[in-house]
Amino acid sequence: MSQTALINLDGKSFELPTFEGTENEKAIDIAKLRDLSGFVTYDPGYKNTGATKSAITYLDGEEGILRYRGYSIEELADQSTFIEVAYLLIHGELPTVAELANFEKQIQSYTVVNEELLAIANAFPASTHPMCVLAAVVGAMSAFHSTDEAGDDEENILCLLATLPVMATWHYKKSLGEAVNQVDKSLDYCSSFLQMMFGKKGDAYLADPIVAKALNKLLILHADHEQNCSTSTVRLVGSSHANLFASISAGINALWGPLHGGANQEVIEMLEAIKADGGDTAKYVTMAKDKNSGFRLMGFGHRVYKNFDPRAKIIKVAADDVLKALGVNDPVLSIAQHLEDAALHDDYFVARKLYPNVDFYSGIIYRALGIPTNMFTVMFAIGRLPGWIAQWKELRTNKEPIGRPRQIYTGATLRSFVAISER
Ligand code: CMC
Repeated sequence: MSQTALINLDGKSFELPTFEGTENEKAIDIAKLRDLSGFVTYDPGYKNTGATKSAITYLDGEEGILRYRGYSIEELADQSTFIEVAYLLIHGELPTVAELANFEKQIQSYTVVNEELLAIANAFPASTHPMCVLAAVVGAMSAFHSTDEAGDDEENILCLLATLPVMATWHYKKSLGEAVNQVDKSLDYCSSFLQMMFGKKGDAYLADPIVAKALNKLLILHADHEQNCSTSTVRLVGSSHANLFASISAGINALWGPLHGGANQEVIEMLEAIKADGGDTAKYVTMAKDKNSGFRLMGFGHRVYKNFDPRAKIIKVAADDVLKALGVNDPVLSIAQHLEDAALHDDYFVARKLYPNVDFYSGIIYRALGIPTNMFTVMFAIGRLPGWIAQWKELRTNKEPIGRPRQIYTGATLRSFVAISER
């Protein structure tokens, strides 16, 4: 049954339509509110604003539910491959055996190293943060591919999926003073990335299957997360009809921030700092509660999850399994567990519904896999790429209008200009 929202303003009442999503999420359509009443809505941080209708990812923050195209994150992380999930997100349905084989083959055909892009990446000083290099080379891809309105989006999508993990390894190789590797097309997506990272040019290298499997799981868990900061950035930039590479490059920059994807690097650095400081987790919990300390427990809290982050649950178990399987004894794991325990039993964290998020344990796995700390957010970007692509494509397919929020102006009212000589 359709409902309307009745809004009373300045002694007049206005009816606004409402609608429901397929999982019964209810929305008031306020698009005409300003025309009708002169009022706009105010919602800093878009905490309660539905910016789009999307059929890609469903998330219920209260129940801790996350689904890609209707499939639960638990099933996908357990049974699928990252490339299969990428296909699902981008095309909307699970691929058949033939479709998946063709998709993998198409991606592999684009893995050739672009020497000019490599030269751009190499121009950055070795001390540059890898997220800066990644955003730059992805933005620079516009120079090498057809990106006008009639540009081949499907080809650009395949090329980006193929080359992002390849380009992600370049700066690491440079920092080691090693030559970049050529892609071994006989390897699956995750093993190929690991070979590019850890193999030496000319040497045979085969990634440990435990490592490749763990990476596959992590990438699936990161593959999409509806309208988060970086995805909203991709959609907003894409809404001006900026090309795929420009939009994804913007998303990479948004992801880099420590409140978003950059938190995974910050978590390990925080755990290391606690360890170096004697491992007193209670001290850091107290600090996190003190608003004047400027310190937050990184890897804790989430805008939408208010009970648990389903990704964090899976990652915590995976971290235990991977460390055991690889025989790694990481002392920060027990610090992380103590910190989690202390926070989950503390009134401040309980009252604010602050739980470990996806970034809390992922760094511990990345570290066990040999990924350097400053590349953790790069790993997040590789994982999130199919989601960004799917959201960009949906926006363009649905012909969404350019994104352009309103504001409530709070600056000076009209005043007369004073000539410089008189100031
Ligand atoms: N440590 C201590 N206090 C916190 C934390 C934290 N990690 N997170 C939130 N709070 C407090 C905050 O001070 C506020 O308290 P009060 O109501 O007394 O003012 C309350 O909890 C609500 O926080 P908020 O900042 O208004 O919430 P938000 O929805 O705007 O921010 C967040 C969400 C994830 C940015 C925030 O929880 C945070 O900064 N967490 C640490 C960074 C982090 O782990 N980010 C990764 C997020 S998951 C990966 C992804 O980006 O997808």
